[in-house]
Formats: sequence, structure tokens, C-alpha cells
Amino acid sequence: MRLFITGGAGFIGSNFIRHLLKQYPDYKVINFDKLTYAGNLDNLRDVADNSKYSFIRGDICDRQAVDEAIKGADVVINFAAESHVDRSIEGANEFIKTNVLGTQTLLDAARTAHVYRFMQISTDEVMGSCEANEYFTESSPLRPNSPYAASKTAAEHFVRAAHITFGMDVVTTRASNNYGPYQFPEKLIPLMITNAVEDQALPVYGDGKNVRDWLYVEDCCRAIDAVMHKGRSGEVYNIGSRAEKTNLEVITTLLDLLGKPHSLITYVKDRLGHDRRYATDPTKIEQELGWQAQESFESGMEKTVRWYQSHTKWVARTRSGDYIKYYERMYSSR
Ligand code: NAD
Ligand code: TYD
Repeated sequence: MRLFITGGAGFIGSNFIRHLLKQYPDYKVINFDKLTYAGNLDNLRDVADNSKYSFIRGDICDRQAVDEAIKGADVVINFAAESHVDRSIEGANEFIKTNVLGTQTLLDAARTAHVYRFMQISTDEVMGSCEANEYFTESSPLRPNSPYAASKTAAEHFVRAAHITFGMDVVTTRASNNYGPYQFPEKLIPLMITNAVEDQALPVYGDGKNVRDWLYVEDCCRAIDAVMHKGRSGEVYNIGSRAEKTNLEVITTLLDLLGKPHSLITYVKDRLGHDRRYATDPTKIEQELGWQAQESFESGMEKTVRWYQSHTKWVARTRSGDYIKYYERMYSSR
């Protein structure tokens, strides 16, 4: 089997490539990644010399480059995306380019190359904010509230259209918030851990009571693996771990694991259009594909905090350069 993975130098993609090379030593894995600010080949340093793995730097919007790289692939798994809500609020154009146009470019290239299966890595955020006691299922209406979520929703529609119009074999996953090793420190958990380690303030948006369903990244990789191998064509699968926590619960957990004082918590201006609650119902993937989250929130957080504590060079490199400018822009006058 030959897998064409886009965005494999990012957080979930790099964890997924590591998972594949370990679980399926016969598979060939091609990582096609533009290496934006979020892409980091350090995330795959330990597998870079594996003879089954190769890396190609390229943009999913570049049809010629994709056509060349995709040759011979059996399955495409599209992780490549602009993925941060706050950046999408600053400007949506890159999100439309990569997430929408890029996905359509890949679909066209995959169809021309007669790829067997196209897998779209989408997000539970396409369904917008969930009321208390309500859970997102695969048939919940799509009501994206951020420019990021709107672009991921548009991409999903193009994937579906390729299935209906051209009979392409497609599967889509909608995972909840992932956390774990190699997550870029613009997202909540790594941002708070790395700030706390340096005794910097922890900027909590609004009242800190927004709820997310936290999924350990290795559980997500196993779920994507299950959908890739066993998911039914044209279907969508939610991935969640029923680990709903408020942002304050997440932050106090990590402060306690680090032995840092809760006084580092600082309330700042809320995010525009901030979704109050995400809560995903994973019954379909559990019952149909036999997948279940294995990591508890407590054990996943412990592993994550220890990983960031012990990877000081990785942290120092990701928190330098453009990250400093980003942080100032986003937080200095918040
Ligand atoms: P990330 O931002 O860490 O990584 C994105 C990767 O895509 C980077 O390596 C980047 O270089 C690459 N990329 C960006 N634009 C590209 C382009 N035009 N061409 C080729 N490569 C490009 O993202 P992540 O958190 O690993 O998320 C991966 C996917 O999973 C995304 O599609 C995201 O929408 C989805 N998702 C993420 C989460 C989460 O909690 N992180 C949850 C559900 C779904
Ligand atoms: P984030 O990791 O950006 O994921 P998403 O918005 O896609 O769910 O944010 C998770 C939650 O944490 C969200 O409610 C916003 C909040 N948050 C903060 O309070 N402070 C921060 O500095 C960041 C980055 C996020």
C-alpha cells in the first residue's frame, strides 16, 4: 500500500505517520507538505531515515506538483490545512486557499491518478457550537462559526460532491480537539504548558468556561487508521473521547502537573464568535468500526505535560522567530 499524506509535518499528520510506520512496516508513506509556520520536519526526525518514508516539499494548491508526487498512490489522506481559529479571524484568505482550493486540487489530482480512496481530515467545528446536553452526530447540521470552520465545511462539501458526481471513494473524519506531543504552541494546551514552564501569564479568553472534548492524538491516529481501512465510502465519522472539560479545568490540571501556581491565570478579551461548547458523539465509529478512545484525560495530560517538559529544544525552536511576533500581535494588547 502506498499512502500520500498531505500536511504530515504538522501535529496530527506527524503523529499519524509515526503510527503508520510502526503498525504497517510494509506500507510506503509519502509526506507532501508545504512547511508553513506550522510544519516542522523536526516532528519526524526519528523516522526520517526509514526507507519506507519520503518527504516532498510542496503546496496542495499546486496542481503540477501534486500530479507529480501523487503518482502510484493508493490512498490520499488530506491533513494539510491552515488550522488555527485565531489566525482565521485575523485573515481568512490563506484558509480559503489551502483548505478549500487545495482540497479541490487534491481531489482532481487523485481522480486523474485513479487513487483508490480519498480521506478528508475534517473537524467537529464544522457543526458550530453545541447547546448544553446536545451532542454532535454525523447528521447534525453544519453551522460553522469561524472562518476556519467555514473553510473546512466548504472542503467537506467538495469532497462529498466528488463522491456523488464522479463516484470517487471518499471518507471524512470529524475529530474533536486533539492534544499531545508535537502540537504547535499556538493552541491552548501547548501554549499554556510552555508559558507556565517559563512562569509567564496564561491568557484565558472570556470567562474560561468554554468546553472542548479533548482527544489524545494517538487515539485520533488509531481512529483515522480504522476509518482509512474499514470506513464505508461516502460516510462521515465523528471522533471524540467523551472528555468534556472547560478551559479552566484543562489549565488548572496542567498547572497542578507542573507544580505551578494558579495565580498565573490571567483573563483576557474573549475571542470573536467564540464557540461555547463542542461535544461529539462517537457512537458510530465505536459501533461500526470497533474503535474506542483508550487514553483518559488525566493520563493523556500527564503524558503531554511530561513530553513538553522533556523536549526543551523542540519547544525553544517553535517558540522563536515568527512565533514571538505572532504572540505579541495576538496577546500584547488583549
Ligand atoms: P497543523 O497546523 O499542526 O499542521 C498543518 C500542516 O499542513 C503543516 O505541516 C503545514 O505545513 C501543512 N500545510 C499547510 N498548508 C499547506 C499547503 N497549502 N500545502 C501543503 N501543506 C500545507 O494542523 P493539525 O492540528 O495537525 O491538523 C491537521 C488536520 O486535522 C487539519 O486539516 C485540521 O483541520 C484537522 N483537525 C485538527 C484538530 C486539532 O485539534 N488539531 C481537530 C480536528 C481536525
Ligand atoms: P484552540 O486550541 O485554539 O482550539 P479551538 O478554538 O479550535 O477549539 O482553543 C481551545 C480553547 O481554548 C478555545 O475555547 C479558546 C481557548 N483559548 C484560550 O482561552 N486562550 C488561548 O490563548 C488559546 C490559544 C485558546
